[in-house]
Amino acid sequence: MKPIKVGLLGIGTVGSGTFNVLKRNQEEITRRAGRGIEITMVADLNVDRARELTNGECEVVNDANLVVNNPEIDIVIELIGGYGIAKDLVMKAIANGKHVVTANKALLATHGNEIFKAAQDKGVMVAFEAAVAGGIPIIKALREGLTANRIQWIAGIINGTTNFILSEMRDKGLDFDVVLKEAQRLGYAEADPTFDIEGVDAAHKATIMSAIAFGIPVQFDKAHVEGITKLQATDIRYAEQLGYRIKLLGIARRTPNGIELRVHPTLIPAKRLIANVEGAMNAVLVQGDAVGATLYYGKGAGSEPTASAVIADLVDITRLATADPEHRVPHLAFQPDAMVDTPILPM
Ligand code: NDP
Ligand code: HSE
Repeated sequence: MKPIKVGLLGIGTVGSGTFNVLKRNQEEITRRAGRGIEITMVADLNVDRARELTNGECEVVNDANLVVNNPEIDIVIELIGGYGIAKDLVMKAIANGKHVVTANKALLATHGNEIFKAAQDKGVMVAFEAAVAGGIPIIKALREGLTANRIQWIAGIINGTTNFILSEMRDKGLDFDVVLKEAQRLGYAEADPTFDIEGVDAAHKATIMSAIAFGIPVQFDKAHVEGITKLQATDIRYAEQLGYRIKLLGIARRTPNGIELRVHPTLIPAKRLIANVEGAMNAVLVQGDAVGATLYYGKGAGSEPTASAVIADLVDITRLATADPEHRVPHLAFQPDAMVDTPILPM
C-alpha cells in the first residue's frame, strides 16, 4: 500500500521533534500503522531553517496554504500555535477533506466546538493527544482506557513551565525570571509565556480533558484561572516548613450543579506522590467510579516527548483512515451544556 502523505505546518520545537522521531523510528512506526507515513511537505516562515532541518527530504514552502490546499496531502499536522492563522489553516484543511493532528490546546480550548463540528460534518478526524500533558497519553486513557467509567474528577500538574519554575525556585533558590528564561530556552514555554505563568495554558488543557471525560462542549470561558505570578519565594519556603509543596493544579470535577473547572496554586502534603512531581514533568490523577484513582506521569513538554504524542495520533489516523469510514468513531460525543461558573477557592 502507498504511504499516507502528511503536510507539516510549523517546524519549530515540536515540528522538528516530529520530523526526527518519525524518521528515526520509521520501521516500527510503519509496522504499527500498517502503512508508511511520509512527511512530503513542510511549511514554515523560516524556509532556510526548515530546509536545513529536513535535509532535502521533502518540499519546503513558506506559505502554509500551499499545504492545506494540496490534493496530494492526506493528513495536516498543525504545529504553528495560536488561534489566528492556525485556526484558518485547520478549518481549510478540514474543508479540503484532510485529517488534522494538532498540539494546539489554545486553539481547541477556544474554538474546539466549531472545529470538531466541521470535522464531523466532513467525515475527517481531528486528533490532539499532544495538546494535553505533552508525551503522556492522557487523551487516549480518558477516551479509551477509562471508557467504562463515570469520571468523578481529574486533577493534574499539566503545565511543565510552571512546575519547572516552582521546583527550581524551591530547590535552587533561583529567581522567577531566571527560571522562566531557562524554561523558554529548553522549549517548554509557550510563544507567549504569560499563558504558562498565568495558568491559561493549564486551563486550556483542563478544558479539553473535561470535554472528553464528561462529554461536554469545550467551555474555557467558564474556568476559574489563577497562575503563579503572585507567589513569592517566601510562600514556597513557608509551605515547605509546614510539610507542603505548592503546585499549580488543573482540576475538573462533577458537582451536583454541573462540571467545575479551575486552575490555581494548591498546597499539597509533601508525602503525596503528586507533590513530588518535579521540573517539567506532568502528572494527572483521574478518579473513575469503577477503576478508582489512576495516575499518569511523564514529560509534559519539550520537543521529542510532544512529538511522541503527535506521532501516536498520526498512527491512529493512518489505521482508521485505511479502515472503512462507516466504522469510524467520532472523537468527541457531546452532551448538553453541563458546566457551572466555577467558584473561586482561595489557596
Ligand atoms: P515553535 O514556536 O517552536 O514553532 C512554531 C513554528 O511555526 C516556528 O518554526 C514558526 O516559525 C512557524 N510558524 C509561525 N507562523 C507560521 C505560519 N504562518 N506558517 C508556517 N509556519 C509558521 O512552537 P512549538 O513547537 O513549541 O509549539 C507548537 C505548538 O505545539 C503550539 O500550539 C504549542 O502550544 C504546542 N505545544 C508545544 C509544546 C512544547 O513543549 N513546546 C508541548 C505541547 C504542545 P518562526 O520561528 O519563524 O516564527
Ligand atoms: N508550555 C507548555 C508547558 C508546553 O509548559 O506545559 C506543553 O504543553
